[in-house]
Amino acid sequence: MKGPSDRPVLVQVDGLAVSYGAVRAVRGVSLALHRDECLGVVGANGAGKTSLLAAITGLVRPAAGSVSLDDEPITGSKAEANVRRGLVLVPERRQLFASMSVRDNLLLGSYVLGRDRRVLEQLERVEALFPILAERRDQRAGTLSGGEQQMLAIGRGLMSFPRVLMVDEPSLGLAPVVVDAVADALHELRRQGLTLLIVEQNVRLAMALADHLLVMEQGVIVHEAGAGASLDQEALLAAYLGGPGTDRVEGVVERVSEGSSAEGCVEEGGTSRSVLRSGAKEQERESR
Ligand SMILES: Nc1ncnc2c1ncn2[C@@H]1O[C@H](COP(=O)(O)OP(=O)(O)O)[C@@H](O)[C@H]1O
Ligand SMILES: [Mg+2]
Repeated sequence: MKGPSDRPVLVQVDGLAVSYGAVRAVRGVSLALHRDECLGVVGANGAGKTSLLAAITGLVRPAAGSVSLDDEPITGSKAEANVRRGLVLVPERRQLFASMSVRDNLLLGSYVLGRDRRVLEQLERVEALFPILAERRDQRAGTLSGGEQQMLAIGRGLMSFPRVLMVDEPSLGLAPVVVDAVADALHELRRQGLTLLIVEQNVRLAMALADHLLVMEQGVIVHEAGAGASLDQEALLAAYLGGPGTDRVEGVVERVSEGSSAEGCVEEGGTSRSVLRSGAKEQERESR
């Protein structure tokens, strides 16, 4: 199996810093997100994960450092322009329009693309991926369950034809069985070849999805681990501060060292070329 580092870098982040007045939320983070990779960033509440994503996607202006997408510098570029480039964020707590229908929330994901025949095709693809969104099409988003809302938020992100999807805490506030359903959906996107960056407090979920993990603490990356490698217990505990207890961490370490957990993320040469992905490729070509 090829490691992610054999693939070209899609998003390169160097020395990124974010400050809110005197609060230094991100303090010099560097990372490389490789094409077709699923990178996980774990860390406790307040570690700076959301701020990191905000600076990468252009929602906040970094105080220092640089971001590039496909070798093109995009530091300080507006979020909307980055969405057009295919750098798409599924925000923490979903941020849906509760009083609008499921379908209209999805269509908003394509807003920056303007009118485009591909939008309706993409809508069909997203509804095929998440049939529940087709079933609930005309329902107000606010009436969906937490898990369904997360599917909708991911679906809305897919509507802007991402080349990279950055998902901020997909499991937040969800019951374990629902977390599994969201994980399955992300796994499917992963299998279809979408490049993902997943930020999570739920280390177990991040480990199950990602083929490379970074642990963030107080604005810096303190540990990293490749697929199937075991993170040391201390690093996990650090990531878990404020999260569930130690026995669960031990469970994770066992599973990972058995090699059962991080596998299945990288599936080479899969026959099913994703419709989502070919949509993105098409757009890439057309926008050149
Ligand atoms: N808009 C903001 N204004 C001031 N401080 C903020 C703001 N957003 C986040 N912070 C602070 O920055 C730090 C990192 O927050 P955040 O990026 O949300 O971390 P995480 O997503 O890992 O929980 C925290 O100390 C938080 O209180
Ligand atoms: Mg956050």
